[in-house]
Amino acid sequence: APVAPAAKPGKSSAAKNAPASSSSSKPATSAAVSVSKEIGQLKIGGTSRPHSQQSNVETRVSATTPTDESSAPPQQVKSKKRIDVVAAYSKEQKSRETLNLVVVGHVDAGKSTLMGHLLYAMGQVNERAMRKFERDSEKIGKGSFAYAWVLDETEEERSRGVTMDIATSSFSTKNRKFTLLDAPGHRDFVPNMISGASRADVAILVVDASTGEFESGFDGNGQTREHAILIRSLGVRQLVVAINKLDVIGWSQERYDEISGRLFDFLTGCGYLKEDVRFVPVSGLKGVNLVRRIDAVGGEAAPGELTSWYKAAAAGDSNVIPGAGPCLVDLIDTFTMPERPVSKPFRLAVTDFFKGGSFSSGNSVSVSGRIAQGHVQVGEQITLVPGGSAGVVKSIDVDYEAEEWAVAGDSVVLMIQDIDIQQFSIGAVVCASALASKPIQAVTRLEAQLVVFDPQVPITNGFPGIMHIQSLNVPAVIHKIIETFDQRTGEVVKKRPRHIRKGATARVEIRTETPVCLELFKDSKDLGRVMLRKNGETIAAGIVTALYSQ
Ligand code: GTP
Ligand code: MG
Repeated sequence: APVAPAAKPGKSSAAKNAPASSSSSKPATSAAVSVSKEIGQLKIGGTSRPHSQQSNVETRVSATTPTDESSAPPQQVKSKKRIDVVAAYSKEQKSRETLNLVVVGHVDAGKSTLMGHLLYAMGQVNERAMRKFERDSEKIGKGSFAYAWVLDETEEERSRGVTMDIATSSFSTKNRKFTLLDAPGHRDFVPNMISGASRADVAILVVDASTGEFESGFDGNGQTREHAILIRSLGVRQLVVAINKLDVIGWSQERYDEISGRLFDFLTGCGYLKEDVRFVPVSGLKGVNLVRRIDAVGGEAAPGELTSWYKAAAAGDSNVIPGAGPCLVDLIDTFTMPERPVSKPFRLAVTDFFKGGSFSSGNSVSVSGRIAQGHVQVGEQITLVPGGSAGVVKSIDVDYEAEEWAVAGDSVVLMIQDIDIQQFSIGAVVCASALASKPIQAVTRLEAQLVVFDPQVPITNGFPGIMHIQSLNVPAVIHKIIETFDQRTGEVVKKRPRHIRKGATARVEIRTETPVCLELFKDSKDLGRVMLRKNGETIAAGIVTALYSQ
């Protein structure tokens, strides 16, 4: 069903780890400013996931302060001498490694229900909270969304039954720790989905198998296709496809084979390696094949129709025991860890920020985001770009736990002291001190190599759009098309062409309205990627090949 653009796609993602506690949704605090009519609901300066200051403080204090004595001085983690973070990390690597997992797919595919049910089945949501979600969702006639409410926290999301912004949570499987990013599927919120996907290492693509529904997500301009291409363009290589709602169609093997076959061809055609794409039949609503294999559960949760055909061999996974095929958790547990660029200079692109923090005193600002590269420790000096302001890291939270240091790949909240909040913006980058290494550049002119998707109008010189870099969206123009070339051979097809056609690869010069922080792709996979959208449609994705200082 069409949904009107949201006035305020914001939610408090900070209280995700305590679903039982109150999760108040305060008005946006971050600098989300509406821009031109052209981009409608997009927000300049990011997607505005305001950590409601209040609930954030509560969550973080309770995570780090065991006693509840409000008069007692805060127990701040103090770092007296400098830690050799690279050495400490290599020692602790196994226990600390976290994978950032984004869950994507067409609107209503069942992403939030699937992950909400998974968190519940893993004991991450207490019974009382779950019963309350059931009662309250029933009351407003949205009973089927009870599990989705674990992740859809704002009142607007719940009353509309639509995820509007990324929700984060964390959980562990036998061999892996995950930061979960539940993305919105509705096309109005693709910018928010991009912001989440740009923090992801791996993904679950959820598709609705019921009659006609898979088709509406996959054919034409459905988001199954768009999301799969977007996350691949953002660097996600490993993917589990959850073929969902199979309960609706009697666990039909024929339908499962049809959908997995079509998706396999499509995904391997758009850059995924065949060994990196795996499929699993599930029902998020019924909780089938999520956390435990189907032969391990009884009653309604073990539908005979599924056990009869879903065998280990059919899944093509040599690690699985004979019997039923792997469940969703079995598959995500075997994602491989990407290499973390821990030794490079520290960079953190700001996803959100707010004044103060758990141990706030004086001029302090808390910033959240994922560390793109390098490491940071309490007591260290940082430099903020743009602007060049300096500050000192006062505390570090990694997945809501206070830590003395953090490394590339970690989702963190840093509290920075001696810095003015006016200096911050979404998309700004917190860097290692300028005294120690050269900070990132902020530019308005860059050269990128773009793959063009399926724009309604051909791209010509002067083509205006919105450029997405991680959580940041800025108006930008394709100033000049330098050349188109064959992606496979690298051979130039045409110099200075008049336009770029669908599916073509081109080198272009882009100019942005305001300075943006970027790295060359060869130096940083995270900070060297851009995405171009126009009129709510993704036009192109690409990598940065040159930066110009003016
Ligand atoms: P957006 O985030 O808005 O894109 O939607 P979503 O993909 O998160 O879907 P959501 O979890 O909100 O579920 C949408 C509807 O599908 C709800 O009514 C769910 O109860 C229903 N649903 C989800 N999974 C299943 C399933 O496995 N079986 C059945 N029968 N219904 C399901
Ligand atoms: Mg959802």
